[in-house]
Amino acid sequence: MTDLHHHGDRELAPGLVDLAVNVRAGTPPPWLRDVLRRALDDVAAYPDAGPARAAVAAAHGRDPAEVLLTAGAAEAFVLAARALRPRRAVVVHPSFTEPEAALRAAGHPVQRLLLEPPAHRLGPVPVDADLVVLGNPTNPTSVLHPAAEVAALARPGRVLLVDEAFADTVPGEPGSLAARHDLPGLLVVRSLTKTWGLAGLRVGYALGPPELVAALAAAQPHWPLSTPALAAAAACTTPAARAEADAAARELAEHRAALLAALPPGLVVGEPRSSFVLLRVPGGARVRAALRQRGWAVRRGDTFPGLDADHLRVAVRDPGTSRAFAADLAAILGAEIPGPLPTTTSLPAAVPEEHR
Ligand SMILES: Cc1ncc(COP(=O)(O)O)c(C=O)c1O
Repeated sequence: MTDLHHHGDRELAPGLVDLAVNVRAGTPPPWLRDVLRRALDDVAAYPDAGPARAAVAAAHGRDPAEVLLTAGAAEAFVLAARALRPRRAVVVHPSFTEPEAALRAAGHPVQRLLLEPPAHRLGPVPVDADLVVLGNPTNPTSVLHPAAEVAALARPGRVLLVDEAFADTVPGEPGSLAARHDLPGLLVVRSLTKTWGLAGLRVGYALGPPELVAALAAAQPHWPLSTPALAAAAACTTPAARAEADAAARELAEHRAALLAALPPGLVVGEPRSSFVLLRVPGGARVRAALRQRGWAVRRGDTFPGLDADHLRVAVRDPGTSRAFAADLAAILGAEIPGPLPTTTSLPAAVPEEHR
């Protein structure tokens, strides 16, 4: 049975370069650290969620009644699992596993809908599914489903939970449904963890119809977010912060292109659009171990439903780091490094069987 609670942080160890966790490098930025430090001056008082809720609502063109602040996206999944009574819950995979884990922990049967590699395009969803969960862009495939295809899954009598934890890693957020208050039952879940480097603070939010937001809120303890977390939510959703996130997303696209250009050919699965890429590497478990010996931590793929040990997820870092990683990976595989010389499209025959 897949360990639905396995996450990239378990791959880390002192001395390893972190390509396993998709938090943006160099974050939180200094101005955000200042916001957090200043928030400490106010922690004697109970937290006031009002300003943060208003800021999030304004950022997405929503009413504050359509906003639920949560202790990370992870809390939103648990609240949805506790508040809803789905008769047929369908989770689209391969995908982040916490939504399914939360549904199972709440006692709901879960049906997995496995998308076909390598494109992992959205397929038809059972018409009687009254809860559909998917990520966009999706961890770990890095696939970005077109917004219209995701929106088409919404219908009366169904909750459509879209995990948009990585939406702001795509310039202009073309796949996001965060502003769509016209779609019935749409619950968009967002996170400040990745772009802003706040994994340890626990801050995210859900956007949806007021009655759905109220139902989730009823399952939440009082004062669920600390004063520093609320300060971060307000600060990271200002127009200036969102512009900064968009600039980071544009730089990320360049860095991703550098990683893709450096990698040995034939390994990348699908068309990556987010801050990580999914690789299919023959002998994946052995390759992952060899990468660790050379100082690299990558995310194993076999804990994601639909993937196996030959799948490795690699975070996009600066081009220098990516090139060094790609060179080590190529050396491990015995493949040629792409460059001005002609390149191979598959592993050369000289690679021993156990490394293929
Ligand atoms: C796709 C996806 N959604 C949600 C989360 C959890 O985000 P948060 O830290 O806001 O709980 C993660 C964390 O890895 C993730 O990869």
